[in-house]
Amino acid sequence: MADLNVLAFAGSLRAGSYNRALVRAAQALAPAGMTITIFDLAEVPLYNGDVEAAGDPPGVARFKDAIRAADGVLIATPEYNHGVPGVTKNAIDWASRPPRQAVLDGKPVAIMGASPGITGTARGQSQLRQAFEFTNSYAMPQPELLVFRAHEKFDAEGRLTDEATAKFLTAFLEAFAVWIPRFR
Ligand code: FNR
Repeated sequence: MADLNVLAFAGSLRAGSYNRALVRAAQALAPAGMTITIFDLAEVPLYNGDVEAAGDPPGVARFKDAIRAADGVLIATPEYNHGVPGVTKNAIDWASRPPRQAVLDGKPVAIMGASPGITGTARGQSQLRQAFEFTNSYAMPQPELLVFRAHEKFDAEGRLTDEATAKFLTAFLEAFAVWIPRFR
């Protein structure tokens, strides 16, 4: 398999975030040939068209450069009120600009998510998928990775301790490694 560079981020700024923990677990479980680099969205301010017109802030420029350089983007999103949290959506909004020449255009994307609830971010993930219609990004349709009852699957240090979830995550990343080269 050719070397694949994947840029990953979690749509949560919380230190103890399950989604940050999921991204770290993915980094550790990446298949041979795939390197996962984590980007912290704390660097990305709220989208403002006036700020953008004056030039991307440094954190946004770094975020866009990291996506541009990556073969694929891996997102762990929480679900807030049955939808995509602002932190995740804000990052996508910056990276969607300018339309049709954006770093997300034609980029393979994989969506996963973790929540303490029983639906494991299913509705948030579906909503996020809609954004990738506009950005013309290739969101992997299957498999889906819904980490439900997340508080039972990570330890106090944020390490993934649930074997079944680790197995699903490994298979999910292997599928992404097959998905990405389809668009080269
Ligand atoms: C939540 N949470 C939540 N969970 C869920 O499964 N479905 C939902 O609709 C919501 N809604 C919601 C709204 C708001 C404003 C908050 C703050 C939280 C709970 C959420 O899944 C939980 O806080 C996770 O731990 C958030 O993800 P991180 O920060 O752990 O990655």
